[in-house]
Amino acid sequence: MSDPEGMRKAEQAAIIVELAFGFAPNLVKLKRQNPEARVIGIERPEMAPFQADTSYQEAVAEGAEIMFLDYRKDLPKDLFGSVDEVIVIAPQPWGNEWYASSSETAEAMADLVRPGGHIYVAAAEATTAERMAKVFEKRFGMTVEPKEVSRFEVPFQSDYLLDRVWVIDFFTPR
Ligand SMILES: C[S@@+](CC[C@H](N)C(=O)[O-])C[C@H]1O[C@@H](n2cnc3c(N)ncnc32)[C@H](O)[C@@H]1O
Repeated sequence: MSDPEGMRKAEQAAIIVELAFGFAPNLVKLKRQNPEARVIGIERPEMAPFQADTSYQEAVAEGAEIMFLDYRKDLPKDLFGSVDEVIVIAPQPWGNEWYASSSETAEAMADLVRPGGHIYVAAAEATTAERMAKVFEKRFGMTVEPKEVSRFEVPFQSDYLLDRVWVIDFFTPR
């Protein structure tokens, strides 16, 4: 029996992942804008104790799922290739002993995204965006060019973004 309403709902079901959500400035908004979706925030386990006074609490109350894990090695394999939208707000140069490098972060994003899915990166540094773009080009066999924009054109918040931001925003091949 045809069930257009049910089909529409199934199509709307989506998984959105924000890697490295920090103090969660964006998770509440993501969940409110996409109430039907699984919105998953991923951060390092070491950041868990510092979430008390952040919007993290509100995001959890709204129904966002939180995973405290190191995305270089502990991403759940069942999410691989199944995420509709993967977001990273990368306001600082990454790559000290605790942090994933920008290349590793791009690899994790590429592992998660589904064919035809959406990748969005806002980076404060051109070098970060260029390194990530190289990973995406290799993984998806397509040209990926970061675009320089004003921070007001970035639909996500971060206390750390400077005035100019390098954005990577594309859909992966189907
Ligand atoms: C500069 S902060 C950005 C936070 C947030 N996106 C924002 O714009 O406010 C980078 C974040 O990446 C997280 N991070 C770095 N490497 C990670 C990894 N391997 N697994 C999970 N989180 C990681 C850090 O804990 C840190 O909170």
